[in-house]
Amino acid sequence: MCGIIGYIGKGNVKDILVEGLKRLEYRGYDSSGIAVINRGRITCTKAVGNISKLEEKISGKKMPGNVGIAHTRWATHGSPILKNAHPHMDIRNRIAVVHNGIIENFQYLRNKLTKKGVRFRSDTDTEVLAHLISQNFKGNLSEAVRNSLKQVEGTYGIAVICSDTPNEIVAAKKGSPLIVAVGKDEMFVTSDLSATLRHTKKIIPLEDNEMAIIRPDNYEIKDIENVPVLKKIEEVSWNIDMIEKGGYRHFMLKEIHEQPESITNSMRGRIDEALSSSRLGGLLVFGNKLKKVEKIIISACGTSWHAGLIGEYMIEDLARIPVEVEYASEFRYRNPILNEKTLIIAVSQSGETADTLAAMREAKIKNSIIMGICNVVGSSIARESDGGIYLHAGPEIGVASTKAFTSQVTVLLLLALHFGRMNDLSKSKSKEIIDELRTIPSKVETILKEENKIKKLAELYFNKNNFLYLGRGYNFPTALEGALKLKEISYIHAEGYPAAEMKHGPIALIDKDMPVVVIATSDTVYDKIISNIQEIKARNGKVIAVVNKGDTKIKKLADHVISIPKTMEILSPLLTIIPMQLLAYHIALKRGCNVDQPRNLAKSVTVE
Ligand code: M6R
Repeated sequence: MCGIIGYIGKGNVKDILVEGLKRLEYRGYDSSGIAVINRGRITCTKAVGNISKLEEKISGKKMPGNVGIAHTRWATHGSPILKNAHPHMDIRNRIAVVHNGIIENFQYLRNKLTKKGVRFRSDTDTEVLAHLISQNFKGNLSEAVRNSLKQVEGTYGIAVICSDTPNEIVAAKKGSPLIVAVGKDEMFVTSDLSATLRHTKKIIPLEDNEMAIIRPDNYEIKDIENVPVLKKIEEVSWNIDMIEKGGYRHFMLKEIHEQPESITNSMRGRIDEALSSSRLGGLLVFGNKLKKVEKIIISACGTSWHAGLIGEYMIEDLARIPVEVEYASEFRYRNPILNEKTLIIAVSQSGETADTLAAMREAKIKNSIIMGICNVVGSSIARESDGGIYLHAGPEIGVASTKAFTSQVTVLLLLALHFGRMNDLSKSKSKEIIDELRTIPSKVETILKEENKIKKLAELYFNKNNFLYLGRGYNFPTALEGALKLKEISYIHAEGYPAAEMKHGPIALIDKDMPVVVIATSDTVYDKIISNIQEIKARNGKVIAVVNKGDTKIKKLADHVISIPKTMEILSPLLTIIPMQLLAYHIALKRGCNVDQPRNLAKSVTVE
């Protein structure tokens, strides 16, 4: 999704902005642009495609100056062509704007401005902002921005520069993330702290309806009514190594291999030995409220929704509290039955997904208890929840979520244990699960060592057009997640199903050209899964089965087996997903796909 970086200071503005744009690449984009104020004029350059295209265009240009803004665009209004790339400028080219979000009443504003004689140069919603600000500008940029934003409906994270006031950048936020990053005699504004982490760890996340005026050595934060807001500078714990590839060919591969560590980090310091329960500091704010919870709704999108489904099974199993899992995009527009005894858990890696945030806000209005489970510290979901749990998985850069998924499952398990022990989960059962959870990181390592075998399977199947993924019980959501991984990065059509559903329709698809990945670990539904495999083989389908080490029955039936260590059924998704992530990765690689930035996808979907 779109990314913003703005810089003011004595550094090389062009280099700093381009490096920042490269750090934003992982979010997904189709064009980019940069605007720098130089001797009272704004120089603006844009390019379609990779940042390298922009670099080519500006390579000969000096672009001196000490203030500039830059943007990676992921098209919403208007196709990904040069004129639609940001920054957008007013008619006199004295104001430049970069924008994330959607101006919903842009057509109305555009008509109004056109009647006043403004000639538009793009098809975007953003361009109206440049003209509005220009019309409201009477020498004070923040005032012009404030007055313009009052006319705007929709969401925005914006950074604005003006050649008449070259010693400041004005930024404002509503619904799209924006952070001020504070350096020494230099200041940044960004939508994603990866873009500025190399320069400073000191950040001030903006809240909705807040504006920032940044100068090299100071900043002001105000609300949209011009009332000053006192904000504390926060220090982030992520470091630059965490957002680099560390010798791996792709971020996705690095993140798959980081899972022994990220799972460990998600549970570190969170086990209460004496009570055989979990100790989750972020839940203390809820006091006794959680004891009164009668229903839980987990709301999320994509991979986080799949983790939520596993959470549903875990919480109902261990804590006997009814759980529903909702797509946030549906939940926000339904009229769900909620009250003050309903707990809403918003699960999100980025903490910025627009639908998940909106679902959370909807539930807040209805007095429900709001808990956030997310990875990015200080993200909107983290800030707007009543309390919550961080994943501590470290930055996830690959668009296809991998380590965040296993951390989400780990954290949801800890939460299920917490609720379980508050209800009637026995100490001994809880201890058994915790002891086994501790073995998971080393079991994940064992699976990762089998990568070459999985690579060989990828070589056999990379040219297929369709895949089916089947699983039952705890591994039905894992089948969904395995299919999502494959389709996201290899563009192969893949479907996940509960294995027994196959005969109610998808079985019609099975023939010799249909590979079926079956999660067939030895748990309570093992015998049923064997029957499902037989049904596939009877129709000449190709079976790739994920089984437990030592399994002999399925080896005789399946075309290929991937053996993984045994664990408890409730923990099995943490292991079964690993070979599926690797299979998707190697298939995509063989097909020559851009694994880290798959087409059309964005890392964090901050628009509806
Ligand atoms: O940041 P979030 O977890 O809220 O993101 C939700 C989905 O957009 C995300 O999981 C998406 O499905 C990923 N591309 C999955 O790999």
